[in-house]
Amino acid sequence: MYLDNAATSFPKPDSVYEAVMNAMRDVGASPGRGGYRRSLEAARIMFQAREAVARFFSVSDSSRVIFAHNATGALNLALHGTLVAGDHVITTSMEHNSMLRPLYALQKKGVELSIIDAASDGVVSVEDIRRALKVNTRMIAVSHVSNVCGVIQPIKKMAELCREAGVLFLVDAAQSAGVLPINVENLGIDLLAAPGHKGLLGPSGTGLLYVAPQVSLKPIIQGGTGTHSSSVEQPLIMPDGFEAGTHNIPGIAGLKAGIEFILELGHLAVYQHEQTLLNLAEEALKKIPGVTIYGPEDPAARCSVLSFTASDVDSALLAAELDQGFDISVRAGLHCAPLAHRTLGTLPGGTTRLSPGWFSTSEDIALFSDAVVQCISKIRKRF
Ligand code: ALA
Repeated sequence: MYLDNAATSFPKPDSVYEAVMNAMRDVGASPGRGGYRRSLEAARIMFQAREAVARFFSVSDSSRVIFAHNATGALNLALHGTLVAGDHVITTSMEHNSMLRPLYALQKKGVELSIIDAASDGVVSVEDIRRALKVNTRMIAVSHVSNVCGVIQPIKKMAELCREAGVLFLVDAAQSAGVLPINVENLGIDLLAAPGHKGLLGPSGTGLLYVAPQVSLKPIIQGGTGTHSSSVEQPLIMPDGFEAGTHNIPGIAGLKAGIEFILELGHLAVYQHEQTLLNLAEEALKKIPGVTIYGPEDPAARCSVLSFTASDVDSALLAAELDQGFDISVRAGLHCAPLAHRTLGTLPGGTTRLSPGWFSTSEDIALFSDAVVQCISKIRKRF
């Protein structure tokens, strides 16, 4: 039983597997690298995928969508492609290392960094961000939903603050894309980074960055684009200049199918299904003595994941017992987000985290909950 959809979604819809196979077996070519029909077919798939992403996030011009290899690649492009020495950036303690590590690297190059501590339930105060603004603040960079405790940050209010202060707003939608509605143009998001392989149900090796028209972005990778080949400079044309090298066409074809699957279902169906399962899990876990659940108390204030600890039980050992004894896949430890665990008070051992997906069922959650009871009791007896 797979309950680690926050890491990557599994299984995928059949249409995703079929699209990947079709792109590999029947198309096979690279887009924009030839005038022959196979290459044109690959270009058509990529254009349609870009249009699907644009429709999904309410982007009016799909050329503002850049394909990346994952959300990490998209975040690196957003951060290294905009910030320069002397700029100030505000982020939060709830971020994943995919946000923090590029920021620490930029700090070494002269970018000023403020990290706002979230409250102990993971919620970031917009007023705390406002107080951290400086004359040289260039960007506010936050995750929409925490990959550790699922807290949903108030990105609408943060976007308003960004507009008021005239700073860029970068949103890491790693856990929210495909679960919560995101209208980048209405919200006023300048840069949105998302993985293709989590809530959008595409294959691993896919991700995307939306770049609003007013953002001036520098490419961080140089190479062939299939256009302007005689130029010694990397072309700044969107999106080609930012997608140097051969595209992951099987991945992009699968991503298109994943997005179309969710567009057909509607976000709300996915969100409601996952919330129902998370609520069932929470009810069951709360009955186990010594179990603590992290994040806001109100289930409506979080989504996608549920993180918990059991007293006297190592979170990694619990996950290992669930895997070995019951074939249940969940992720434990620090989830690449050490500051979030500091905020939640779960250092050094971290938490055990479950993240159901569209294909998970209430029977899965019942089996999971029973298995947790048995594993906890076994571990407690052993130590
Ligand atoms: N960021 C992913 C996770 O939280 C990999 O598991």
